[in-house]
Amino acid sequence: MNVHINARTSAQVDHSFAQDVIAGLTQKPKKLSPKYFYDETGSKLFEQITLLPEYYPTRTELRILRDRGAEIAAAIPSDAALVEFGAGATTKVRLLLKQSSFKAYVPVDISGEFLNGQASALRADFPELAVYPVTADFTKPFELPPEVKEMPKVGFFPGSTIGNFDPDEASAFLRSARAILGDGATMIVGVDLEKDERVLHEAYNDAAGITGQFNLNVLARINRELGGNLDLAGFEHSAIYNRKRHRIEMHLISRKPQTIRVLDHTATFKTGETIHTESSYKYSIERFTALARNSGWSPRASWTDPDGMFSVHALVAEA
Ligand code: AVJ
Repeated sequence: MNVHINARTSAQVDHSFAQDVIAGLTQKPKKLSPKYFYDETGSKLFEQITLLPEYYPTRTELRILRDRGAEIAAAIPSDAALVEFGAGATTKVRLLLKQSSFKAYVPVDISGEFLNGQASALRADFPELAVYPVTADFTKPFELPPEVKEMPKVGFFPGSTIGNFDPDEASAFLRSARAILGDGATMIVGVDLEKDERVLHEAYNDAAGITGQFNLNVLARINRELGGNLDLAGFEHSAIYNRKRHRIEMHLISRKPQTIRVLDHTATFKTGETIHTESSYKYSIERFTALARNSGWSPRASWTDPDGMFSVHALVAEA
């Protein structure tokens, strides 16, 4: 008897993940959404990336939040509710919470389990702070908890996560955040800056190969969760800077002609054919503030590190 241990029926899998993967691998050029990097293994690999000597964004943003904390605090109303779009490690938000006087913290994330763990740790460390986690996809409209409705709102979107969006998607996100937070809100956004291509290249092609593992993990995830049969050794990580579009592109390049199977679909690859797995847009201060302005926000202040590697922006939603 022929038993397919790995084969799953469509009823047993996450449908949106399955649909996105099948659509992405059967279109030309092939692509996958970077949001699928972050299963448990992927989140751990990303944590490792943030510690790599070549990967400057995380430590540089933390340095800006720390060194310019007083100025950032001055741009924030007191007794506000801090709404974080996506909640990963709490290191950055802790810096803000220490430096300003917030009344409430509203982390918004699709992973409720992760959120609740973070929330209880923060409650223990900031006993005066009311923490109201919201389980939602922050790229879509969601309701703020009624408890914070009357408080001034401050949005927080660190990490240059906005760089994963194409410019029109970034604009749509900023508009949606404005609608959720309301007139008078402030938004603090971390944005990676354009720089020497060699620095970018090394940050996304690290010597230890962790970024490659992170990229390839999405294939392992497809195998695990969708019963795929992808051979990880048949793909190679590559990150290139697309100068014209101001973005790092991560790709998985097929090392050989191959046919892969996911659920009851197949996709064929030529040697050298790629799956585009991520775009990480880099901005100038001017291009980002122009994008913000065109998305309903008034740029109030921008801070960078002394080497101009990364930027943090305060935007205001004028009534
Ligand atoms: C989490 C989207 C900001 O684009 O730098 C790190 C993800 N990809 N290394 C980035 C990432 C490869 C990261 N963001």
